[in-house]
This record gives sequence, structure tokens and C-alpha cells, in this order.
Amino acid sequence: DWTMGAYREEMIAKIRAQVGDRQVICALSGGVDSSVTGILLHEAIGDQLTCVFVDHGLLRLNEAEQVVAMFRDNYNLNLIHADESDLFLGALEGVSDPEVKRKTIGKLFIDVFQKYADQIEGAEFLAQGTLYPDVIESVSFSGGPSVTIKSHHNVGGLPEKMGLKLVEPLRELFKDEVRALGHELGLPASFIGRHPFPGPGLAIRCPGEITREKLDILRKADAIYIDQIRKHGLYDEIWQAFAAILPMRTVGVMGDGRTYDYALALRAVTSVDGMTADYYPFTHEFLGETSTRIINEVHGVNRVFYDCTSKPPGTIELE
Ligand code: XMP
Repeated sequence: DWTMGAYREEMIAKIRAQVGDRQVICALSGGVDSSVTGILLHEAIGDQLTCVFVDHGLLRLNEAEQVVAMFRDNYNLNLIHADESDLFLGALEGVSDPEVKRKTIGKLFIDVFQKYADQIEGAEFLAQGTLYPDVIESVSFSGGPSVTIKSHHNVGGLPEKMGLKLVEPLRELFKDEVRALGHELGLPASFIGRHPFPGPGLAIRCPGEITREKLDILRKADAIYIDQIRKHGLYDEIWQAFAAILPMRTVGVMGDGRTYDYALALRAVTSVDGMTADYYPFTHEFLGETSTRIINEVHGVNRVFYDCTSKPPGTIELE
């Protein structure tokens, strides 16, 4: 693509001008945005970049292994795999307020990056995959008064005390443009096509208190749901699909026994940029089959709902 080819060169020149011969650390989440950011920076400054992949214990099934393998197999960049799940899950214990969750996670991310930055001689910059919709949505809600809907953990600059300057090469781009740039940079198509995944991860798909038990149930159910979507050839038609675990148990019957287990919500939306979205019109057959599979295969779930709320009035994530 001519436009993206030119953009890539322009970004590389800008990054080199901003960074000079200094060191940068990049917050790699495994999502398309931060991956493109990391690879773009790697092209621009090579070994002056260290990527830090933080496992906050709120990732999807096998996600950490897959992301680390993708980078190890395809790119020769400095990568630190930081397992900080005990730190994050410990801090989130007993927390159920959505904004407190987001702020707790955002603060810990900064602490963790500070810790790794301190280990890298001369690190002066932190690179993030912030996109244009992140920038504007955290400031105002289109059409309405200026209100913060959600505190995105990757927006808003860094506390002064962190002493790192930001590098945000994707700040002017929308998601489809980031994907085009990823293609231009040679990222595997399967990776570019991945649905977005939020920085706070499964925390915001687990309304109410987060427990390891709920996260395990959620991971298994989500993997089955995505498997169903892929098997039916629907993955690329959908902007984002995921399961959420609801903060309640309901009564059911299995065999000749009573169950009292968690309920899940399935969500799938189409969207161009994440700012507005329509719920995806699955067939009843698809929903029935998926619900049956999840309840049969995941211990601890006895009820499945489908979320047919568009955005607005809903948001894409539950928190
Ligand atoms: P909402 O739920 O606000 O989500 O309708 C819009 C899009 O943004 C993603 N999202 C986030 N991404 N950090 C991120 O990197 C966050 O804190 C965050 N919160 C929501 C969400 O998955 C959707 O694609």
C-alpha cells in the first residue's frame, strides 16, 4: 500500500529524530496496536528498544505463550516476559468498582514498567500503542458533554515522577490503518486480524469481584466461544467477540441434580473504529449450539446469555 509505505518511512524518521541514540522500552500487550508499535520501533532503532510483555494474570487462554512465541519466531528483538500476575491479582482482590479496577491496573502497569526501565541502562522513553479513538474517547463522548466514560489504562500521559517520555507513533491512526501498517511491516495476517483486546484484559469482563476461579471459567468459556465463531467462518466479520462472567449464580438442573453456578454473557459486535458498534446477529442455531457446548464443557457455568446491546447505549466492554 503506497500510503502506508510512505507513512511507515515518515514514522521511522520521526521516531529516530525523537529518540536519537537513547533507549526505549515498549509496553507489549500482544494486541495489534502494541505489536505494530514494537515492530515499527524495532525497525527504527533496533537494539535501542526493549519490549516488555506483562502478564497481569488477566490474559486469555494460552495467550502469553502464543504472543511470546510469535515474537521469538518472527522478530529478533529484545523481549522481557514479565509474569506479574500475583502482583495484579493481589491488588485487585476485593475490588469491584470498574474505575477502581482500571486505575489499579493502570497504576501497577506504570510501577512494573518503572521497575524494568530502571534495569535498562539509560532508558528514557516509553512507547505505547495509543490510537486516535483512545485519545479522544478518554476526553469526551461524542455528541454529549465532556465526560469520562472509562479511564483507558494506556492514555493520559505518565506521572511526572516516572521520568520517561512517551513515544506514541500510532496516535493519529484508526484501527483499520494500524492493520494496514502491520501488513506493511510483515506481521502475520492471523495476528493482524485478531480482535482488539483491552489493556485491563479480563478484569473488565468480570464485573464485580475478580477471583482466580472466575478467571479460569471465563478463559475456558471464551476459548470455546471463539472456537465456535472460527468454525462457523464468522471471525473476520466481527470486530470483537468475547465472553464475560456475570457476578451472580443461578439455579439450574443437570441430570437429576440441582446446580447453582455462574452465568455468562456472550458479546459480539461489528464496528469500524470501536466508537460505535452494532451487536452481531448470530443465528439461533449458533447461539444454542454455543451455549450447549459451554455448559457441557466448562465446569461452573449453567446459564448463558447473549448481549444484544449496541453502542451506544452500551459500551463494547462490560466495564
Ligand atoms: P468500550 O468498552 O469503551 O471499548 O466501548 C471500545 C474499544 O476499546 C477497547 N478498550 C480498551 N483498550 N485499554 C485499551 O487498550 C483500555 O483500557 C480499554 N478499554 C476498552 C475495547 O476492547 C473496545 O475495542
